[in-house]
Amino acid sequence: MALERTLSMIKPDAVGKNLIGAIYSRFESAGLRIVAAKMMHLSKEQAEGFYAEHKERPFFGALVGFMTSGPIMVTALEGENAVLKHREIMGATNPAEALAGTLRADYAETIDENAVHGSDAVESAGREIAYFFSDEELCPRTR
Ligand code: PPS
Repeated sequence: MALERTLSMIKPDAVGKNLIGAIYSRFESAGLRIVAAKMMHLSKEQAEGFYAEHKERPFFGALVGFMTSGPIMVTALEGENAVLKHREIMGATNPAEALAGTLRADYAETIDENAVHGSDAVESAGREIAYFFSDEELCPRTR
């Protein structure tokens, strides 16, 4: 088992529904530990930069519009196999395909507004965490 970090975002729809605590509770119950967190309201430039790899996709403008529509919670989580564990807790990108009991099955309405984001690999997690947090802002657990 590998100790990993992953970048987690609670998107504007879920923040708007007052689900921050409920979602963090799922992560903590699964053994993932918060090592950095902040609330942000992304600018258009910040959202476009974060999702740059998708800029040619037809939904890019809608995705940026959604992600800038309200505050988000950005969090770095640490734990054994954190990337895969977090993706399992989130469920499929399209909530209609998400397994029962996952965050997207429980809290997301549509693929356009799907409540949470999680890194898809250890490599992208490192890049995404560095997009939002400096090294000094990451607080490894000591107990
Ligand atoms: S891929 O092919 O796996 O890289 O793409 P995918 O993970 O499915 O989607 C990339 C991000 O785009 C969001 N998405 C959408 N937004 C708006 N409209 C539509 N139709 C749509 N389809 C996908 C999706 O939620 C992903 O965002 P994150 O933040 O990574 O969940």
